[in-house]
Amino acid sequence: FGIGWPEQTKTRIGGDNMMDYFAVEGGRPLEGRVFVHGAKNSALPLLAATLLADGESVLHNCPDLTDISAALGILSGLGCRVRREGATVMVDPTCRRGHTIPDELMGQMRASVLFLGSLLARDGEAVACWPGGCALGARPIDLHIRAFQALGAQVRSWNGRLSFYGPRLHGRRLALPIPSVGATENAMLAACGAQGITVIDNPAREPEIVDLQGFLRSMGAQVSGAGTGEITIQGGCRLHAGEYTVMADRIVAATYLCAVAAAGGEGELLGTQGEDLGPVLAALEAAGCETGRAPNRLWIRRRGPLGGVGSLCTGPYPAFPTDAQPLLAAALAGGTGKSRITETIFDRRFRYTEGLCAMGAAIQVEGDTAYILGRPLHGAQVAATDLRGGAALTVAALGAQGPSRIWGLDHVDRGYEGLETALAALGGNIRRETGP
Ligand code: EPZ
Repeated sequence: FGIGWPEQTKTRIGGDNMMDYFAVEGGRPLEGRVFVHGAKNSALPLLAATLLADGESVLHNCPDLTDISAALGILSGLGCRVRREGATVMVDPTCRRGHTIPDELMGQMRASVLFLGSLLARDGEAVACWPGGCALGARPIDLHIRAFQALGAQVRSWNGRLSFYGPRLHGRRLALPIPSVGATENAMLAACGAQGITVIDNPAREPEIVDLQGFLRSMGAQVSGAGTGEITIQGGCRLHAGEYTVMADRIVAATYLCAVAAAGGEGELLGTQGEDLGPVLAALEAAGCETGRAPNRLWIRRRGPLGGVGSLCTGPYPAFPTDAQPLLAAALAGGTGKSRITETIFDRRFRYTEGLCAMGAAIQVEGDTAYILGRPLHGAQVAATDLRGGAALTVAALGAQGPSRIWGLDHVDRGYEGLETALAALGGNIRRETGP
């Protein structure tokens, strides 16, 4: 099974390799309540930002995921003192040493690239291998590199490694040709170490960017404009330890909403009120669900059949999020309507539809568009090819008639803290089991 298979999904019995899988008995409506844990895609840049502080920073509502463990591994590998008490993580970089991100962690998690910006800002130097490939197609980091160069860093590439050197970064205006989430975050982190003002034009506007601004501010950084079309950073000053509560994971919330849409019934989500899920809630309502919100609560109900959404396009925030595209498609596939979903962010984000078709889905993928003709699904044995794809197969299995097994949980465990426990709390018949 290759390198980096997280131990918790592989149990050795008698020396044979046994693997975890989800055993799902679908076809019955859900009813339950579940807490939405902290956002992976906010916690990751925040953990990178802890390197900038003089002293121990504290992050609350930090999810316990394999990607977060990988990020904590990078920090402790750099000599930081890392502690976790429940959902609170403490990172003290005082005894930090070195500035190289380990190859195996760079390969396991693309988001390791976010440590380059904070290492460059703090130490003026960073080394890493090229980030690992991903099931979502080519995922270059040219915009990250160009941002570092624009701030004054020299970049060298040799035998698969990248080294950045910039002991005296200087602030300037950076215009991103596309609103890349990671490039925006890396530019913000590097700019904290650049003398003077940095202005990022056309940044990503995702809520996770606003979270990063909030944490940096708690460290004394002068950052403004996150969530808008222009972010300004006054860099070059020392930052003290910060304390921050990570936002709820909006894609995990979307997963739970789509599970209820797929299986029918009703579910209540705690810890979020869906203020950053507008397009997802609108799509689910267009397909026939009812939703409602109250402070820190979000509910969804589906009594009648699930229809289609007509034509829908993913895009940078505040458009429909690419990460929720597989989850919505999984619910619609088992419905009764027609839908056309166009993916504009990643060039290979429909691989999960092979698993849906194994469950009887009528889905045709042509280029960047998936055409879905909803119809009843049946259980099947399927394997995840990526994080949200694995969650999508699980969502579909809850709405399918009969038993399913979903393999490849190493992908799912990267972004969900006990997905099976959460879906069981919503009333789903799902267990994590081990088999050959
Ligand atoms: C972040 O990835 C998220 N990951 C992704 O979530 C999410 O799908 C994506 O943003 C879009 O919202 C984390 O935050 C850890 P991008 P990122 O840079 O930063 C191209 C999940 O499931 N691009 O906004 O890698 C790129 O190829 C993951 O949790 C360049 O061309 O996304 C893509 O087509 C999946 N050059 C587009 O921009 C670059 O230098 C958007 O990518 C960088 C990106």
